[in-house]
Amino acid sequence: MTTLARKAVDWLDERVGIREAFRENATEYRVPRNINVFYSLGTVLLVLFGLQFLTGILLLAHYVPHPDQAFDSVKRIVNEVPYGWLARNLHAVGSNLAIVVLLLHMLSVIFMGSYKKPRELTWLSGFILFNLGLALCLTGYLLPWSQLSFWATTVSTEAAGSVPVIGEYLVRIARGAPTVGGATLGRFFALHVVVLPLGLLAIIGAHLMLVRRIGISRPPFGKPGEVVKKGVHEDHPDGIPFFPNYVAEEIAVVSFVLAGLFAIAVFSPEVFIPADALEPADPFNTPAHIKPEWYFLWAYQTLKIMPTEFIGLAVQGAFMTFLALLPFVDRKAERHPFRRPLFLSLFVGIIALFIGISVWGHYS
Ligand code: HEM
Repeated sequence: MTTLARKAVDWLDERVGIREAFRENATEYRVPRNINVFYSLGTVLLVLFGLQFLTGILLLAHYVPHPDQAFDSVKRIVNEVPYGWLARNLHAVGSNLAIVVLLLHMLSVIFMGSYKKPRELTWLSGFILFNLGLALCLTGYLLPWSQLSFWATTVSTEAAGSVPVIGEYLVRIARGAPTVGGATLGRFFALHVVVLPLGLLAIIGAHLMLVRRIGISRPPFGKPGEVVKKGVHEDHPDGIPFFPNYVAEEIAVVSFVLAGLFAIAVFSPEVFIPADALEPADPFNTPAHIKPEWYFLWAYQTLKIMPTEFIGLAVQGAFMTFLALLPFVDRKAERHPFRRPLFLSLFVGIIALFIGISVWGHYS
């Protein structure tokens, strides 16, 4: 450390005790010795959301939230603004990757039973984060004001109309007018750049506070280490130091994901930016095949195959409620998936069902 840096650290140490805080939370803080790669997915999410904030701010410097100018402003960002194409591609591809990692983080937490007591609140805060993530994608999708944005939003907001009695009212609230237009763009923009990111930041704070306070769960696989309870905190006295050992492992996983993100954003952004996204919105020309993004295909197809759209919405609502309440439904202490046959069958069955319905939705 240079003399100047040491002086700065000394100055801070005398005032806020940063050396002690670093010891307590990094070098002397231990994570389970049998920790596995899936425990890094939370950190990967933190980095991905950080990057979304950064690229989002860069886009915001040139984007214009008006139906007459939105599409052209995005075109200008991509074609004229220096490195604008990179910010735009990273933001669009990053949002898809964040949903992939959100799903993997959630599935690994389910598979290893980490949602169980005492982590019910960590799970619930995660469940809210999952919904905020989806809402960010839904609202962001409209902003480029392309054919795809316009018609996908028309279809998704229409679904709310099938709720009995208040359906019409809900559609009106979502769109701000009877049809998707400038008012919809205004409210989706406000949600996407202010309301939802603030909500996400607040809940991420609560989620991390809970993870730190309770301690990382001991994985149900591998050679188990010791767990000592100190109040509500689970200590791992024979575990590996968080810093530098575990941080080095996390850096490796994060680098691997970032390399994949940059490779897709630079070489194959069309995987996540299809042809309809390159046409400006035309309210008088409905495209032949309008499909939502891959992560909403299951919801789209459920609405199509149920006798009425309302039954479809009710089934989706029931599933999401079940997911939110999972730790309160599944209360046995056993966490090893192979010693929970009913759980394992449901886990595999539900994933297969979701993939099947989504593929069906894609090709229908
Ligand atoms: C913005 C989204 C999210 C971020 C940034 C995030 C971040 C993290 C981090 C850093 C950890 C600690 C390390 C790890 O186990 O990965 C963690 C743990 C956890 N997360 Fe998340 N998470 C997010 C979303 C979710 C979601 C969607 C769920 C489930 C619905 C969830 C449930 C949990 C649980 C139960 C733990 C405790 C795991 C354990 O101690 O074994 N999280 N999260």
